Amino acid sequence: MRTKKYIETRLPSLEGKTYVVTGANSGLGFQASKILASKGARVFLACRSEKRANEAIEKIKKEVKNAKLEFIEYDQSDYEKITSFCQNLAKLNIKIDGFVANAGVYFPPKEKKTKLGYPLTFGVNFVGVYILIRNLINEDVFNSHPTRFVFVGSVAKALAYPKTFDKWFYDDRVNRNFQYSYSKAGITLLSTYLMNEDLNNVPEMKFPSNVEVYYTHPGITNTNIVRSNEGGFGKNFVKVAQNFLKIFFQSPERASLTMVKALTTEKSGKNISIRPRGPFEISGLPQPRKMNKINKIAAPRFMDYVENELSKKSI
Ligand SMILES: NC(=O)c1ccc[n+]([C@@H]2O[C@H](COP(=O)([O-])OP(=O)(O)OC[C@H]3O[C@@H](n4cnc5c(N)ncnc54)[C@H](OP(=O)(O)O)[C@@H]3O)[C@@H](O)[C@H]2O)c1
Repeated sequence: MRTKKYIETRLPSLEGKTYVVTGANSGLGFQASKILASKGARVFLACRSEKRANEAIEKIKKEVKNAKLEFIEYDQSDYEKITSFCQNLAKLNIKIDGFVANAGVYFPPKEKKTKLGYPLTFGVNFVGVYILIRNLINEDVFNSHPTRFVFVGSVAKALAYPKTFDKWFYDDRVNRNFQYSYSKAGITLLSTYLMNEDLNNVPEMKFPSNVEVYYTHPGITNTNIVRSNEGGFGKNFVKVAQNFLKIFFQSPERASLTMVKALTTEKSGKNISIRPRGPFEISGLPQPRKMNKINKIAAPRFMDYVENELSKKSI
């Protein structure tokens, strides 16, 4: 089925609903925001650059008349800014129907670090999301309104979990693909922990019962994830890689349906992954599938590690 037809016929009206999408100015976050707006929802684009967010808003408005879109500042690499974002969101006192934790980076120089001293990829893609959730809980952003929290993982998540997690947080020799892979493996474990109320070794990291957790991954698609700014890839490589992805993989609009499906499905998100249904989960319309049971075994040990690690930084 074509993507447009799927959006028209398989997704419900979202009139009266409100969503927050992080990293919404580009790629999958942009496409998901456009689809949500086209279904009548109000969408907050949580982005680190107001200029890029406003450009995205204008672009969506050209296609979706009367789109209800607003910018809110959000930088997932900086824990103080994550805290202010959650405080600002709480002050707005809105009923949020869904939150998509989509923002992420793929290939910055491996020696680049966040303020807390973690490799940028792991620091943004995993630690940033962890701190975000802590603050959303502390600030009671979701009140008692029924909400969905949607994680965005990747097929590139690590296939085997290590005996210790030090490598994920600290090993400078780890190559950039592995840094990315570890960050997404962390997201898988965190989402598994939050989905299962029987896993409760870090009680303060539990969403209230009105928040339902969904894990998604988009397969592979052509976005700005392969980019040359921030010292990532060379410009020529970016051009070749983006053309390759464009020719051989599905469109970012189709890939973003995994997130929109998670926000709208009648199915519970517990221990399922909403991912493309095609071979190797690389492309295709969204379909739920059971998550690997091994995640449930590794998740509590990982949560202990993360809490202990962040407490060393007084977080
Ligand atoms: N594309 C794929 O094939 C693929 C596959 C699996 C998973 N994913 C995941 O999908 C998500 C979206 O990626 P994409 O492919 O759409 O890439 P993208 O086009 O590069 O979009 C990434 C978004 O994240 C934002 N972002 C990056 N660092 C941030 C920070 N510190 N604070 C706040 N926002 C930040 C970017 O903002 P700026 O524009 O300001 O940099 C951008 O809006 C990521 O989590 C990625 O890991 C993508």
